[in-house]
Amino acid sequence: MERLDKIISTGGGISRSDARKAVLKGRVSVNGKTVRDIAFKVDPTADLVVLDDNKICYKKYIYLIMNKPEGVLTATEDKRQKTVLDLIPKELYRKDLFPVGRLDKNTTGLLIITNDGDFGHTLLSPNQKVPKKYFVTLDGEVGDDLPQKFAAGLTLADGTKLAPADIKILNPKSTALVTITEGKYHQIKRMFGLFDLGVNALERVSFAGLDLPKDLLYGQVRELTNCEHDIIKNAKKTLK
Ligand code: URA
Repeated sequence: MERLDKIISTGGGISRSDARKAVLKGRVSVNGKTVRDIAFKVDPTADLVVLDDNKICYKKYIYLIMNKPEGVLTATEDKRQKTVLDLIPKELYRKDLFPVGRLDKNTTGLLIITNDGDFGHTLLSPNQKVPKKYFVTLDGEVGDDLPQKFAAGLTLADGTKLAPADIKILNPKSTALVTITEGKYHQIKRMFGLFDLGVNALERVSFAGLDLPKDLLYGQVRELTNCEHDIIKNAKKTLK
């Protein structure tokens, strides 16, 4: 059960204070009866809530996909710098949204943002081995020995042992597709650092089996389709 003012605010895409005013003014009905109590409890899956003449469609959880641009922090708030939450349009914004995992400030690409804690935390859990694929542009050529070394599992400079990773060297050989199943701090940059290769650009092109949609431009965000949501939920627990 949820409070009526919350349902009107999130379902109707208006502020909580405007939602309260609407309820107090008698513009809201529940199952055909006008309700003026902002704290009235509603079952969003069963009750019909109407604001003026518009049926309110309330979703407890929201799942967003963003093509993260460069220069934006993957954080929920920051005093000085822009965060990914600042890019979310008003109609999709909820106070309890959080990014599922982190991309560095200069990394671009696929980022999932949700307010569903269970969904997010399952995807972040190391034992789920959720695959994340990156398109990497390096400051030198990738050696032919790297695929075998990545597959065997690298050990970072600080002694951290990594799970097996997949690398596909592209043309030119300073570019590659890398798939990892962990999310250690600066992981990709540190992996290439072991071979004296610097990362010039990093883009996440796939997450949990879902590819970055070609039509999603930098900075754009939209709700996941049901099909995309299913792809992520059923993400294979194996490297691909
Ligand atoms: N690895 C990195 O080094 N940076 C990212 O943003 C993601 C993976």
